Parts: sequence; C-alpha cells; structure tokens
Amino acid sequence: MAKFNRYLITAALPYANGPVHIGHLAGCYIPADIYVRYLRAKKADVKFIGGTDEHGVPITIKAMNENVTPQDIVDKYHKIISDSFTDMGISFDIFSRTTNQVHHETAAAFFKKMYDDGLFEERESEQYYDNVKNVFLADRYIIGTCPKCGNPNAYGDQCERCGSSLSPDELINPRSALSDATPVKKLTKHWYMPLQNYEPFLKEWLLEGHKEWKNNVYGQCKSWLDNGLQSRAMTRDSNWGIKVPLPDAEGKVLYVWFDAPIGYISATKELTPDWADYWCKEDTKLVHFIGKDNIVFHCIIFPAMLKAHGNFVLPENVPANEFLNIEGEKVSTSRNWAVWVHDYVKDFPDQQDVLRYVLCSTAPETKDNDFTWKDFQDRNNNELVAIFGNFINRTMVLMHKLCGGKVPVFHMDIKDAKDDALIAAIQEGKKKIEESLENFRFREALAEVINVAREGNKYLQEKAPWLLAKTPEMQAENQKVIDNCLHLCLQLTGNLAIFANPFLPFTAKKICHMLKVVDRILDWENAGSLKLVSVGYSLRPPELLFKKVEDDQVKAQVEKLHAGLKKSAAETTAAAAPAEEKVEAEPKALIEFDDFAKLDLRVGTILEAEKVAKADKLLKLLVDIGTEKRTVVSGIALHFTPEEIIGKQVTLVANLAPRKMRGIESQGMILMAENAAGKLVFVNPNAAVEPGSEVR
Ligand code: 2FM
Ligand code: ZN
Repeated sequence: MAKFNRYLITAALPYANGPVHIGHLAGCYIPADIYVRYLRAKKADVKFIGGTDEHGVPITIKAMNENVTPQDIVDKYHKIISDSFTDMGISFDIFSRTTNQVHHETAAAFFKKMYDDGLFEERESEQYYDNVKNVFLADRYIIGTCPKCGNPNAYGDQCERCGSSLSPDELINPRSALSDATPVKKLTKHWYMPLQNYEPFLKEWLLEGHKEWKNNVYGQCKSWLDNGLQSRAMTRDSNWGIKVPLPDAEGKVLYVWFDAPIGYISATKELTPDWADYWCKEDTKLVHFIGKDNIVFHCIIFPAMLKAHGNFVLPENVPANEFLNIEGEKVSTSRNWAVWVHDYVKDFPDQQDVLRYVLCSTAPETKDNDFTWKDFQDRNNNELVAIFGNFINRTMVLMHKLCGGKVPVFHMDIKDAKDDALIAAIQEGKKKIEESLENFRFREALAEVINVAREGNKYLQEKAPWLLAKTPEMQAENQKVIDNCLHLCLQLTGNLAIFANPFLPFTAKKICHMLKVVDRILDWENAGSLKLVSVGYSLRPPELLFKKVEDDQVKAQVEKLHAGLKKSAAETTAAAAPAEEKVEAEPKALIEFDDFAKLDLRVGTILEAEKVAKADKLLKLLVDIGTEKRTVVSGIALHFTPEEIIGKQVTLVANLAPRKMRGIESQGMILMAENAAGKLVFVNPNAAVEPGSEVR
C-alpha cells in the first residue's frame, strides 16, 4: 500500500427516480463500504463519496407522468435513497446530489474547458420532436408501425414483436409515446466527444497498464476498445439538467453521463477544502465501485474525459460486480421484481448485518448470482447464528459461569498445542482477510472471518470447559485449564470484532459493548493481538448477536415478492418511462465463424405448454421441429401463460446438450428477447415458417 498516501473511494450515484434495492447494495455499496471501513481501520486517509444522480430523461418523464416537477421527484427519492443507505450502515463521508449548485458549476466548468480546448465536434442533425410536450424524443419515446411485421406498437429502436432493430425514421405513422401526438422533425445541434481519438491512450493506460483488473471488467473494456469507439453526443435537448455553458445553447443541457461522474468531484469539493489533493495528486488511489452496467462509463468515457480535461488522477481500479438476480429472475424495477432496502429495514429491524452478510457472501463478484430468501435463512441460521454468534455467546456464558464474569488470567506454564493452534489461526486469519480485502475479494475475506470463528468453536468443543466443572471440586482442580480456555476465547472474540467490523459494523459494536472496550479497539493494528481484553476486567452479560430466521418469515418474503409482481405486459411496456438512461448492451467478444457454425438453430412451433409443478418460473413445452417433437423446459412462466404461447413459432437451439430440470429432461432451449422493462418477448420469424427450418 506504500505507493498511495490517500484514498478516494466512490460508489455509483443511483438515479433519484426510485428507491434502491438489494441488487444495488450487492453490486457496489456493500463492497465499497467494506473496503472503506477496512481502510479507516487501517487509519488510511480516505474519503468515501456518494450521492444521487438527479438528471436525465427518465426523471423528466417520470415527473411528466406523475404531474409533478422533476425537482419534486429527485427531492423525494434522494431522501428515500439516502435513508436506506444510512439504515444499512453505508458510511459515506458525503452523500450529495447532482442538482447542487457546486455540481452545476463544476460540471459546466469542466465542459467549458474541454470546449475552449477544442475537444468537441459540433454537429447538426434532424430528430423527432413532440410539439405537445415540447421535447425531443429519444428512440424509446417514439412508437409506430413496424415496416417489417406491421406491429402497430414498435419502438423507435426496435420492434418487440419481430425483433427487428429499427431507426425512428423507419416507423410508419410515428407517434410520441408521451402525448400520442405526431412528432415533427426538427434540426438540432449537439456537441460530440470524439472518443476514437482517445483509443491509443485508453489502450495503453487500461489494456496495457491495468491487466490486474477483474476479468469481467477488463474483458468488457477490451471488447469496447477492440470494436472501436465513436463520437458520442455529450449534450441533450432538455430543460432539466446542467445548462450547456455556451452562448448559442438555449434548451441544451449536458448529457447525464457527462455530468454524473463529475458529481464525484463536486461532492469531494463540498466535503473538503482539500478536495484537489484527492483528485489531482498522483499518490491518490482512486477506486470506483459500480455495477457492471456502468463499466463503459467509468472505465472508458470518464477516464477519457479526465484525460481530455487534464490535471486529474485516473482510477486505479474499478472492481465492478455483475448482477444479483432474485429467486432466479433478473431484477426488474418496472415489474417490481426486487427486494427494496426500505422494506427490508422495516421487516427485519436491527438485522442490517444479516443482509450485509448475505449480500457479501453471495456477491456477484465474478458472475451474476442469485439471491433467494431460503439462502438468506440458511446463511443466517447456519453461519451467523450457528458459527459466529454461537461461539461468542458460548464464550460469554461460560466466562460468566466459570470465571465469575471476569476476564481470567492466562497461565503460560500450562499452555498447550491446542492453544498454540488457536493463536496461529487468529494470526493466519488476519493475514488472509487483509490479503483478500486488498484485492477486492470480499466474499473470500468474509468466509475467512467465519472460518476463524469456526476454529474457535472447534477449540471450545475440544477443551470442553463445562466437562471440567461438573462439580465444585472438579472445577477447583481444573480452574487453570478453564481460565486458559476462556481467556483465549475472549481474546478471539475481540479479534472477531475487529475482523468482522468492515462487514458487520453493527455486530462489531455490540461485541465491543459486551467486552466493555472502546470502539478504538477495532483499529486494524490491534488485529491478532492477544491483549484486547484485560485480565480481571468484569464484562457485561451476553446479548444474542443474531437470531434465527424462521420458515414463516421466508414464506412471507417470497409471497410479498410474488404479490408485488406486475404481470401484465401492458403495465410494463406501453409508454412507461424506462427506469434508466438507456445503456447500450455490452458488445460481446468476437467469435470465429466455426464457433457460430456449431449452433444448430431451428424454427419450431409450440404445440403444448403447461406449468411445471412447484416451479413458479418454468413451463414445459412440446415443440415441433419438423423431424421430431422436443420437450423443452423454459424459464418463461412469469412472462406468459401456457395458453397464450401455444401455436407460436420460436427459434430453438437444437443441439444443446439435454439437461434435467425438476426431473424433466429439457431437449433444447428457445430464444427470446428481453425488452427494456425486463419483459420477455418472442422473436418470431417474419412470416410463418416450416417447422425444422434452419436459422442461419
Ligand atoms: O446507473 C446508474 O444508476 C447511474 N445513475 C450511475 C451513475 S454513476 C456516476 F457516474 F455518477
Ligand atoms: Zn416488427
């Protein structure tokens, strides 16, 4: 850690147009908070920056739909989001907002410097405009008839019936999704950043200089760079946002993805007059914690902006996580398939650390992962309660019972191999946790914390001090052995508080309270010490750190999830504002023709469809592919009823190795598209096709 003298840690600024869910926590806020708490415990000079992203089209649309102002929307959600983070112990040094004055000035000045340095291209183009709502319509906000299949509700960028990708100009009878009015073409001017000019810099700095970044992040960046970058408009037509600071720019604002990351700089300015030390001095370690949908913005566009502007440090790492699914389904805010943080806090009061624990243990660090309430229960009951909590509780109870409530002395003369092994486990644990945390492997670090507690249980079980004190006589005879055992267990308890503190800060505090030690003991330099609690000191009575999660709680949560689900397609697509500024799908790495040729894709017709017992998400289908009929188990039951899909044509991957699901052999996979609202849609052939036809 010698190279860096200060740390600047940022966590993505969530859009202030909805509350945060546990996917947000797992994706970036919990890992960021763990890292920051660890750095603070190491007494590093660190600033943890957060806030809400309060500009962009989705916010204006939401305001329009709800008949309130965009300011009303962002005020409401800033508070909800900020409260959720506070409740969960996400310990930002500042939680700011991009509507703040300082941010408007900072972002405008950033743009102006780039403009003055001649770093933008000015371009005019014709775009659709809604005369009723007085807004330019981005692709998703234009609806019209698909020229390919006649679907009257195709979007300006895609027809969800036939899957064709479209441009707004191709739509027949286009209309505005906001007002239903016929849009007009209007000439508009924007400022583009020629990202291709920064390719050599990005390739050298990132692809050559940061091979140590996580594979998922590095790989995605490499794809973007290999595919070649293009000029990208950094301004938009809107009256909500940061005004373009140029004389001829009436009605123009900065693109939300231009201003949002500058929000990290503005928030640091609000936080400290020394902000420039953090942003401009080479010995700062800047780390952005984000979810995978933000990778291109933080690893490519923002660094290119920082480089173009000059005088700023670049991120040293961007340990982005993948996505957390819920009960096997992708999170969808529009379908309300999500576990909201404010709901969790209400339903599980004082159990923030349980959620922090589960989300860290199952964090999607290298690939998408699944959160289930059953797993939440299992991890709580089998790990937090049965291992970690149980060790500390037994130690405290036994110490009160067998040592008069005071820290017993350790008798060096009878120290044995088991004591040595436990001491070694503490030292070893400290090293492993440190090493994992410094390399952003939070799951591994947390597993090691539990491992150390497991060692404690094993030790206690082997020493079994309760067996040595069956009668007062026996106890008197064995008191020295009992003392040694509980002395070490208490020192281990103190160490567990230090180890757990970055992950489970509420629990660490409770342990300090029981041990009657000040929170300063949690400083990392004390980790591994065997002098955390002083001999003869009387301790408080034990309090339970974790309680069991019961089956009915799990059932209630799963039911709540399903009850909240908005099933109908109408609710999720028609004119609904997308939750986020559209982000292009990550380009996948190129494949050779031979790889493609391995796929046997066939058109099939669904002959039968039925629900699979005890599996909410699965339908069993019988698909006719001409030469034969295939049974396919498909995870589409939350999107379609069996009746509505019988007779539909689908593309089937016919040579996928068969797989058993719920006891049924699935003999292939059907392909579907997912729209912006997370709803699955059929990708039908243009006209009816003979079953079995090859798709090439
Ligand atoms: O994806 C999002 O929620 C964005 N609002 C993240 C912005 S991060 C940063 F650039 F501010
Ligand atoms: Zn179509």
